[in-house]
Amino acid sequence: MKTIFSGIQPSGTLTIGNYLGAMKHFVSLQHDHNCYFCIVDEHAITVPQDRLKLRENIRSLAALYLASGIDPEKSTLFIQSEVPAHTQLGWMMQSISYIGELERMTQFKDKSDGKEAVSSSLLTYPPLMAADILLYKTDIVPVGDDQKQHLELTRNLAQRFNNKFNDIFTVPEISIPKVGARIMSLQEPTKKMSKSDENQKSSIFMLDDEKKIEKKIKSAVTDSEGIIKFDKENKPGISNLMTIHASCTGETIEQLEQRYEGKGYGEFKQDTANAVIEALKPIQERYEELINSKELDDILDNGAEKASFAANKMLTKAKKAMGLGRVKKKKK
Ligand code: TYM
Repeated sequence: MKTIFSGIQPSGTLTIGNYLGAMKHFVSLQHDHNCYFCIVDEHAITVPQDRLKLRENIRSLAALYLASGIDPEKSTLFIQSEVPAHTQLGWMMQSISYIGELERMTQFKDKSDGKEAVSSSLLTYPPLMAADILLYKTDIVPVGDDQKQHLELTRNLAQRFNNKFNDIFTVPEISIPKVGARIMSLQEPTKKMSKSDENQKSSIFMLDDEKKIEKKIKSAVTDSEGIIKFDKENKPGISNLMTIHASCTGETIEQLEQRYEGKGYGEFKQDTANAVIEALKPIQERYEELINSKELDDILDNGAEKASFAANKMLTKAKKAMGLGRVKKKKK
């Protein structure tokens, strides 16, 4: 059975971009894969966070994973900072990363652009992400389109380590969904929808109520042509709504084009809002049951234990390959 690893940052309430590009696919993968899903809180602190808000976001993200359908009997769900092997291997991966290659990462460039105080961890974020993945002998990493470059670096670092020290790491494959890999902002449809966008109208959050979802979709930026046709270049707003609609209902883009031929944006937007509301409703209901439950803590405790067991084994191998520590004498 192949192993899957993926992570999401608890840096704000998840958007439907996170859901349609990543989380939704995790749920279907868990039936025939050995899965690890992580709340990557150590990645979140690469930019300033409010302590109490971060705690809240970590718990909320854990509840959303489960509410979306992650089954703790099938998958290991855990918090990154509760498994110290991640930062330990992260440091080792930093030692084989070059500053030049880290400075070339577009996420680093975007997040540091124009800022006076940029933390060094923002630069060394990708070696930690590599460690997350490599600790579990991961075969496949399901992510949205924006993580491609980080995944390529992870593959390079794994190969570099294997060549330099010992062939211990599995070089992972990236898996990006055909539809929904890059959900765009509702207000600026040439920009990615993001949890940290300051304009609240740009993103639909997974916990938004029906009214908010409807309002945001109705005020989404489109064009004046009035034709429902997929054309990313010339009609980015309508194309984005079509992607959201298709990802929520499971229809294809072609089916939507046929169904809305000769119909206006008003009707299409209303139906898109209904499709999003229908997709999120059961998740929101289950979320409410989970968020303050002991069940949630038990699942995370168990997940940290299971993840630590696997991760520590790989960490020991990596330390040995690099010559860290001592050779332990066997007890007589
Ligand atoms: P993060 O927290 O930014 O996003 C989590 C997942 O959601 C996807 N995503 C999107 N998909 C489609 N449209 C969008 N607008 C959109 N925005 C985000 C992301 O591609 C991602 O799959 N570096 C990672 C977290 C991470 C990780 C890992 C991922 C840390 N370690 C190991 C995989 C494996 C990140 O910042 O994701």
